[in-house]
Amino acid sequence: MTRFDPSGPLRGALTPPPDKSISHRAAIVAAMSSGETVVRGYLDAADTRSTLAAIRALGAEVAELPAASGLPSGSKRPTVRRFSPLDLAIRGAGLCGARPAVVDVGNAGTLLRLLPGWLAGQRQGEWVLDGDASISRRPVDRVIEPLSTMGANLDARDGHLTPLTIRGAELHGIEYRLPVASAQVKSCVLLAGLLADSPTSVIETHPTRDHTERMLRAAGATVRTENASSPVTIHGSLPAQRVIVGPAESLELGELIIPSDFSSAAFFIVAAAIIKGSQVRLDHVGINPGRIGLLGILTRMGAALEVIETEAAGGEPAATIVARSGPLQAARVGAGEIAVAIDELPILALAACFADGETVISGAEELRHKESDRIATVVDGLSGLGAEIVATKDGFVVAGTGHLRGGTLDSAGDHRLAMLGAIAGLASREGVEVTGFGAAGVSYPGFEDDLRALLSTEL
Ligand code: S3P
Repeated sequence: MTRFDPSGPLRGALTPPPDKSISHRAAIVAAMSSGETVVRGYLDAADTRSTLAAIRALGAEVAELPAASGLPSGSKRPTVRRFSPLDLAIRGAGLCGARPAVVDVGNAGTLLRLLPGWLAGQRQGEWVLDGDASISRRPVDRVIEPLSTMGANLDARDGHLTPLTIRGAELHGIEYRLPVASAQVKSCVLLAGLLADSPTSVIETHPTRDHTERMLRAAGATVRTENASSPVTIHGSLPAQRVIVGPAESLELGELIIPSDFSSAAFFIVAAAIIKGSQVRLDHVGINPGRIGLLGILTRMGAALEVIETEAAGGEPAATIVARSGPLQAARVGAGEIAVAIDELPILALAACFADGETVISGAEELRHKESDRIATVVDGLSGLGAEIVATKDGFVVAGTGHLRGGTLDSAGDHRLAMLGAIAGLASREGVEVTGFGAAGVSYPGFEDDLRALLSTEL
């Protein structure tokens, strides 16, 4: 149990830890590559450690390099950075060289959904993927369906749950319309497409993060996006698009630098917005258009945000984000914005408690399939702290009261719930005890230290 008492303002600058989504992909694409890839600033957290263990089991060699000195370019000003990102040299197993293995994905849904894309197209071999209690309730039929259409051979418990068994098969290109907006499913199909005998296309009605597309292009694959959106936008949803990948002979990634994780930065952005007198600067943050829906939503709510684009990192746009406290208005968030804000909806619910009026989040049924059922855990968690929040079938409705009493919040083993509980504690009147706070280590092991540092630093 970890306690977070009502606090004064958050002030200071921070470089949040490396991006989790990009770290998973960097390890997987490096494992699929021929030769050596250098990954700078890999996230050292439970989830991404699972990915390193997985690629080792599949035949990649992973060596930790001595930590590079200094901060990423564009971040030369004083900034708190307590975590130690990893610099890695990864010797790939090659596109068709994955060794048969039993893989423990731990808590990592991204690993569970991406790996089958690579493994399904191996010429021979058998793989079994399984993970922790949370993984055992997360659906895998969403990847079985498109991969089977491509000719893959997969079996799952009751047809939709782990353990997932994959046997190598010959794959054929398909055109696949995503039934749910999911970057994990899109990425899985694109990885399989590299091993298919003809081009594969994925149609997205609500486009999602395109980290995989960017990384595969950097590794020499042919990946084309039609009806792509404008470069960087912080407002609203993205237009529908089709992503087409061609068969590849081999991949070569070379070197990759990973920016900080917007989803980790989001906790400080909301904390600064709701805790009076706060001003926080977040450096080197990835602002992939498929990730930053929260910025548009908070801007609509009246939050005082500044986004200053800096040098790109690893083919991803990056920025310094400054967030300040100020009055918030309620917002309506519908299906068009869900995919680009999916991981930030829990912390947005907390912001809504401090906004004037009723905030309605709808079209977010996907939240039920995350590390926890995040509609249930967010509503239970915040109600227990005195919030006026009710669940709907595909989201929640929050009546903003401008304050929160406090109490006890159970993380339900979900890293984003644990961090939400911490911020809720600082903004509350009586403080919050977070049970199972250790879950934060799935994506952000140094979160508590970074947060406490911002309570005692000056800009
Ligand atoms: C992720 C995609 C999202 C997100 C998850 C990470 C990724 O999941 O919620 O935390 O790295 O591709 P879905 O693609 O299932 O929506």
